[in-house]
Amino acid sequence: MSREKGVLVSIEGIDASGKTTQAKLLVKSLKEMGYRVVYTKEPTDGFWGELLREKVLYGEKRVPAVVEALLFALDRFEHVENNIKPALKEGKIVVSDRYIHSSLAYQSAAGLDLNWIREINKFAPKPDIAIYIDVPPEFVVSRLKAKRSVMEKLENQRKVREAYLKLVEDKELIRVDGKRSIEDVQSQILEIVLKFLSKRS
Ligand code: ADP
Ligand code: TYD
Repeated sequence: MSREKGVLVSIEGIDASGKTTQAKLLVKSLKEMGYRVVYTKEPTDGFWGELLREKVLYGEKRVPAVVEALLFALDRFEHVENNIKPALKEGKIVVSDRYIHSSLAYQSAAGLDLNWIREINKFAPKPDIAIYIDVPPEFVVSRLKAKRSVMEKLENQRKVREAYLKLVEDKELIRVDGKRSIEDVQSQILEIVLKFLSKRS
């Protein structure tokens, strides 16, 4: 079966914008409608994802931005090969809670060249639908997990949001207003996905 059989949907946004909530609700709604759907996420629970989480993101070790970008790309490579491509080949809808645009937004906000980030992620199939849940960082500050200091995080999240909004401007991402209720955001995302599915059938 060809790759066109499956559909890759990514859900993007700054930390605590509601991605996991929405990705899971989307999976649930589509399943209820009879579609074969899988939920997946990055960083993954695989070797590189765990290493990132344990040592870099929540651990003490700070690594240069280039190393972080390469680790995310390694994690994504395994994710694509082991999970995403096989599911797409089986004709499933894959909903990924973060994907390539997380690298484009976060790692460019960390000062890296956008084209270099694209280059090291070239192996990754483009999402058919890439949704960006937009919230100002101040709006979700109370939801943030205590990782690095909150102030440091806030400043960083502002830069990440700017990077995401630039990708919206470039039509790489579809912006959804995340300041609304969970239900309102959910129905807009479902509408976008169903519109795409109806066009291709
Ligand atoms: P992310 O995956 O982007 O980090 P989550 O989906 O885990 O975000 O949501 C973070 C927290 O915010 C959770 O407690 C969730 O219930 C809550 N939340 C998510 N979306 C909304 C919303 N639209 N309005 C209010 N609270 C929300
Ligand atoms: P997060 O979605 O919070 O995952 P978890 O809840 O499993 O820890 O992601 C962790 C952090 O990783 C988050 O701050 C965003 C960052 N990140 C990148 O910087 N680049 C990437 O390519 C990805 C996938 C995530």
